Amino acid sequence: MGGVSFKDDPTAKGFFAPLRFEATLIDCEVEGDIPAGLNGSFYRSCIDRRYPPRFPDDTPYNSDGAVDLFRFTNGHVDFRSRYIQTPRLKAETAARRALFGRYRNRGTYDPSARDISPNTGNTTPIIHHGRLFSFKEDSPPMAMDPDTLETIGEWDFHGQMRAKTFTAHPKIDPNTGDMIAFSYEAKGDVSPDLAVFVFDKHGKLKREWWIKAPVVSMMHDMAITDRHIILPTTGMVTNQERLDAGLIHWTYDSSVPCHVAIIPRDGDDKDVRWFHGTPEQAMLVHTTNARTEGNKVILDAPVASNNFHPFFPNADGSAFDVSGVSPNIRRWTFDLDSKDTGWKEEVLFGGLRGTSMVRMDDRYLTRPFRWSYMLVVDPTLPFDRERGGKLSVRVANSIFRFDHHTGAIDRLSAGNTHSLSEPQFVPARPDAPEGEGYILTVANDYSEMRSELVIADAMRLGDGPIARVKLPFRLHTQVHGWWEPQEGFLTGFRPR
Ligand SMILES: [Fe+2]
Repeated sequence: MGGVSFKDDPTAKGFFAPLRFEATLIDCEVEGDIPAGLNGSFYRSCIDRRYPPRFPDDTPYNSDGAVDLFRFTNGHVDFRSRYIQTPRLKAETAARRALFGRYRNRGTYDPSARDISPNTGNTTPIIHHGRLFSFKEDSPPMAMDPDTLETIGEWDFHGQMRAKTFTAHPKIDPNTGDMIAFSYEAKGDVSPDLAVFVFDKHGKLKREWWIKAPVVSMMHDMAITDRHIILPTTGMVTNQERLDAGLIHWTYDSSVPCHVAIIPRDGDDKDVRWFHGTPEQAMLVHTTNARTEGNKVILDAPVASNNFHPFFPNADGSAFDVSGVSPNIRRWTFDLDSKDTGWKEEVLFGGLRGTSMVRMDDRYLTRPFRWSYMLVVDPTLPFDRERGGKLSVRVANSIFRFDHHTGAIDRLSAGNTHSLSEPQFVPARPDAPEGEGYILTVANDYSEMRSELVIADAMRLGDGPIARVKLPFRLHTQVHGWWEPQEGFLTGFRPR
């Protein structure tokens, strides 16, 4: 009987090797000046395995979840990281080994784990009705204490949420504080059922829809406007035969078209309208923002035209094509006055290829907006292979700010041995105009194998970081982040 070893996990290398510890650092080392008024909490949902996976080809999406907290107080930054104490992590810790098998396939779990929730909570943190949630799309939200990061447990909104799953990308309407969310495979594995919810700012269920999707597919993100909810399907599909064969949940089928549900926020199930696109539109992972103008619903989003994830095999048996991974930014316009079931597509920013890690000023969700911020692999920025190591792939080394009015692009680098994470926009003040504020992103410095939280002026990304919060260790791999201002997001500026 040996101890824990990650030698058979090919992903557990360098910055992707799990940390497996929890940290509390009071007063982190700071280089530069933290901007006055930058007071609040930056949360990151991260992946970090406690035990090596049961199958060496397991997707990193199947890793345990951990949450990091950088708390900013008058120029000082305290750091805290904690595993999310899921039923799954507790069971595996008690057994001292991995019990859960292939991603979202219960038949491949250790028999002792088949009735335990597979929840990892490893994808997105959001504060709502006084709680910190960390979401994973195959399970209910994990609730945590926003100060201590202590786990409260799986959250069903006091019994109001009856679906078995919950999106990792609920949207908070900045006008009302409502949380708008959905569930896919809502009645269990491979069910075509979608549930869509509106919870008020106190967590009370206000409205609910139950509809059927035309295809059972990964539906990772949604968009909202002040009048509509937008739900796109993808070509990442599943079926019972796959699960019975012991395969990973998802396969990418390049023949499956994109379908988009447009749901009037004041309507009911019969008011839901489905639009039908092409397979080249069926790989939308994240949305940027959307709005309703008259009877047109307009969505901006990065969309790839092929399989985005090497761990999910192509249904036709073809090899993974890395060139299909990088999305371009598209504008989809749905005309509700037209009987046409298609939509208009425009490609923005000259077809530039980025990543799906895009954010904007969350105060402008649902309405016309100007700026978005995206993690990008910029091949024009050199990587110092002497100091940074001979990496086999290019790292995401830049944050691009896109001007959706003029098409202009500004870009941030943290150094030529640094990779970056999803950008987080922070308004300079609660009443600051759109885009006036800061970009926060965690940089991994390959020359020292340490991480730092980089802060840049969002209006001057090209000037580089204005401050760095330096950690004496490397950090977990972040999926998504959330900024909660000291005064609270929902008490902040509300445009209009
Ligand atoms: Fe996501």
